[in-house]
Amino acid sequence: MTKNILMVCLGNICRSPVAEGILKSKLTTDYYVDSAGIGGWHSGEQPDQRAIKTALNYGIDISKQRARKITIADFEKFDTIYAMDKDNLKELLHLAPNDTAKNKVKLLLSAAYPNKNDDVPDPYYGDLEDFNSVFTLLENALEIIATKIKKTANQ
Ligand code: 4NP
Repeated sequence: MTKNILMVCLGNICRSPVAEGILKSKLTTDYYVDSAGIGGWHSGEQPDQRAIKTALNYGIDISKQRARKITIADFEKFDTIYAMDKDNLKELLHLAPNDTAKNKVKLLLSAAYPNKNDDVPDPYYGDLEDFNSVFTLLENALEIIATKIKKTANQ
């Protein structure tokens, strides 16, 4: 059963904080949703202001989140770890300490849309429009994932 869910991107300031905020809005507090980055360059920082603004337009406040780098302990603590893109996926599989940990790692859009192998594009070097399309992509995918998570909880 998936109760503890971790969203992972490169910097933990654009994509994964938005994914965390959206998924939290779809699940009760029986679930624990967090996010982390492959890199620690932005550790302790708020999400990117453009990510905060975009999410707030849809009624989701991610301003209280703070960036952090993934740790080995996360592979123990979380049941499912979603990678935003295939580079993140590769890094996570490299960092995972054992096969149990490796099995927890999934590409987010493949988990939502089986047979699709797409990335959530990095909007960091883009503009507000890019943040908006990332939000919509995540909102649609996480609606499917939240439904799947709730279904497995009821089995
Ligand atoms: P994110 O975007 O992985 O969606 O948080 C990025 C944020 C910062 C950097 C790269 C990607 N950076 O290189 O600092």
